[in-house]
Amino acid sequence: MSSVSLWPQTASEQAARIDLLFTGLLVVSGAILLLVATLLLVFSIRYRRGSKAQRGDLPEFLRRDVELGWTAGTLFLALFLFWWAGATQLRASDAPPDALEMHVVAKQWMWKARHPNGAREINALHVPRGEAVRLVMTSQDVIHSFFVPAFRIKQDVVPGRFTEMWFRATKTGAYHLFCAEFCGTNHAVMGGTVTVMEPEDYARWAAAQPREQDLPGEGAAVFTALGCSGCHAPSSTVHAPSLAGVYGRMVNLADGRTVRADAAYLRDSILLPKRDIVAGFEPIMPSYDGLVDEGDMQALLAYLQSLRGEAAR
Ligand code: CUA
Repeated sequence: MSSVSLWPQTASEQAARIDLLFTGLLVVSGAILLLVATLLLVFSIRYRRGSKAQRGDLPEFLRRDVELGWTAGTLFLALFLFWWAGATQLRASDAPPDALEMHVVAKQWMWKARHPNGAREINALHVPRGEAVRLVMTSQDVIHSFFVPAFRIKQDVVPGRFTEMWFRATKTGAYHLFCAEFCGTNHAVMGGTVTVMEPEDYARWAAAQPREQDLPGEGAAVFTALGCSGCHAPSSTVHAPSLAGVYGRMVNLADGRTVRADAAYLRDSILLPKRDIVAGFEPIMPSYDGLVDEGDMQALLAYLQSLRGEAAR
């Protein structure tokens, strides 16, 4: 496509919604601008110095009914715009449950992606057209921001936590991926390409990628390599909580609180184990801060998630 267009490329459902919203705002602002400019011109001529125009009180109808009418009218217009923009934005944060989950790790200065089947990419992301794709993202160093203009989506990627975003691509092609948060010397070149393929092409592509293990499988290897299994395996003589089925469960803590063992809690328990001690256990676990990089952390959490109802290895 070489046509010069006022609009950037549009390649996702969200892009169509954002463009509609933008057009709406443009039309409303344009109408108000036109109205104000016209009145300004008309009044400045009509009521110029020395003109004979009448300057007394306006009729009752104009003073009250019209005043009330346009005040209420603009109030509802503003509320409508608020609802419209808010609903559009909220829809962008709630992924459908059947979305393909892809993991993204940002670091100075590259994007690393992992597909559900274990395929990896750097500064590239292949996705199927027409399917919802959910990105679970984190950063290994500073704050980055995942930005695909053709999809009209942008989300900060923050060290120490997971942020999420989803999209459904509507058109095949290659689209720019940018980092939209100043993150150091090479921020400007931190980017890549999002390639949208037909679903069958994507399936073929994904199957052809060299890959090691799926994410839980890799997590199991990290679990063993870091020595977690030495204490947390059921056969261990060290008194440590079993991790089978812990993901998503409510956990009683030594200080009387009860918390849900979600991704954030498990992550904290690995990096800051002294903070939330499980009731009935001693604070003997060392911190793994600095020993687990973000890729390993995602793998570990995927492994723990896969242990629902199963005994920890
Ligand atoms: Cu990463 Cu800017």
